[in-house]
This record gives sequence, C-alpha cells and structure tokens, in this order.
Amino acid sequence: MIENLNNRLIKYQDLIPSKKPFVESKLEGHKDRSVYSIIGPGVTEELKGISLTEPHGFNLGGVDTAPNNGSSLHSHTTAEVFLIHKGPWKFFWGVNGKDGEVVLNKGDIVSFPINMFRGFKNVGSERSIMYTILGRDDPGVITWSPEVLKKAKNTGMVLLDDNSIVDTTQEKIPENKSVLAPLNDEEVKTFDIYRPEDIEKCIIRYQDLQLNNDTNTGLNFISYIENFQIDNKTLPPMISHNQLGFTFGAVFGNQFSLKNFYSLDTHEIYIPLEGKWKIYCEDQEIIINPMDTFSVPVKLKRRFESLEDKGFMYIVREKID
Ligand SMILES: [Fe+2]
Repeated sequence: MIENLNNRLIKYQDLIPSKKPFVESKLEGHKDRSVYSIIGPGVTEELKGISLTEPHGFNLGGVDTAPNNGSSLHSHTTAEVFLIHKGPWKFFWGVNGKDGEVVLNKGDIVSFPINMFRGFKNVGSERSIMYTILGRDDPGVITWSPEVLKKAKNTGMVLLDDNSIVDTTQEKIPENKSVLAPLNDEEVKTFDIYRPEDIEKCIIRYQDLQLNNDTNTGLNFISYIENFQIDNKTLPPMISHNQLGFTFGAVFGNQFSLKNFYSLDTHEIYIPLEGKWKIYCEDQEIIINPMDTFSVPVKLKRRFESLEDKGFMYIVREKID
C-alpha cells in the first residue's frame, strides 16, 4: 500500500505566503511580494510555513510580486536556478547591480553562480511569478549587498546574527543577539564579478528551445543541468553548472506519453509549465496542473503523459555526488 499521492501534490493556490520574507521588505519596491517555501525552508528570514518538509536534496521556493517589486542584491552559498512561470522579470547583478542585466519571460531558465550578488524585479504590468531551486537540504543563508542592510535599517528592519529579522519600530533586539553588520570593502572584494556574456551562458530561453511537437518521436526531453537520464537516453546539459545537488530537465510534446515505468533511489519532482499532466504511480493516478508541484515517492514506479497539446513539464531530481 503506497501513501495517498495527494499528500505529495502541492497546488499553487495552497502555497503558504510570507509577506515580509526578508530584511528589505519595508523598502519601496519590496512591499508587495509573497515568498513561498514549497519544498524545504529555503532561505527566508521570516518563515511562515513549508508545504513539504521532507528533505529532497534541494529546496524549492516561489515568489510572486506586483509590478516594480522584487528582491534586492544578495548572494547565496548554493546554486540558485529560476524557473519563470509568468514574466517579465529583470535580473541584475554585481555589488551595485551594475555589472549586467537581462529581462526574462515565461519558460526561461537562469542558473546564477554562487558567491555573486544578484537581484530581480517584476518589470511587467501584472503580477509575475517564478520558482527557485536552491541546491542542497541546507541552502545556508543569504548575504546582502551592504547598501541593502543600510537602507533596511532606515526602515527599522535589522538582521540578527541568527538570521532572524527584527522590526525595531515594534520590538526590541533580544539581549543575547546582535545585529549583523553590512559587509566591509574587503569582504565585498571576495565576491565574484560576472560580465553579461558570462551570465548569458547560464540562461536558456524558452523561445530558443527546439520544441519538436511531434508525438512520441523520442526527442521530447531537455536537460538543463547535469546529465539527464530518461527513457533509455542520456542527455547532456545545456548549462555547465554541476555538483549542485540536483539534476534538472524537462519533458514536452503534444499529448506525449512516456510508455515505460521507471523508478529512482532519489527524490524527483514534476512541475508543469504548460498543460495538464497525468502521473501514474504504480496503481494510482494523479493529475497536475501548471505551477503545481508533485513529489514522487522514492523508489516508486512512475510514468507520465501530457493530456494536452504543447505540454511542457519540468523534472528536478536529487543528485547525490
Ligand atoms: Fe536568491
């Protein structure tokens, strides 16, 4: 008897929002934002809840914002890959955000390197939505560009040495905690600098994919990060970041059906971008929609099919190095 698969289906509308997820949340351009911890806690500084707590080897989060809202410049100690469900988003990078910028849209992917500052903003006229994969079970904490902590302090918001936020207009800093100081000039120099052409190699645009929509041609898979093995094929990745703790690919096609069941010893999740998908797990079936996340139980036999034309679904797998 396998567990009820519905317990592993996380619908977009059921995600748990944090409305003040980070220290910059009271600054203009950051006030109208929801951040979601879908699988694992992520790096949120004000955690409101986690949809699926079981460790997967990676964390999955989500963010949606009003126009002109987004995230300030920050760095991570593990991989950060963005999956855009609805754009446009402008990404910018460098300690002052001036090293480069790019606007990305629905279906585009960007994998930012560790140890560099990046930020993003919704540059559309409606709410924009994207998901983020962070490498490893413990994705560490965010390091903010110094200006972010300085500006946040003017709104009363400070980050403590245990990575919690205090709004000093409403509460006191606990006696046994101290406020995290902004990075000094020497510390800033330890972060890496990337040119636009460097980051371009970390981007895959949806419109550039050769989506052969013939049904069941055997050419219905994409590998973004790490070698992706499926349907007796091994696809080399389009982005050369490795040892991130996960493999990242996609499947697409007009009513594409994977005929053979397969199983894995590691975690695997499905996230449709386009169309409804039917997932078969041994003798159970489940339907998942765009922006839903389904985590397949480890070792269970599974296969899937697209119920609509032009289906497109992301597949993220735990990879033990
Ligand atoms: Fe981030």
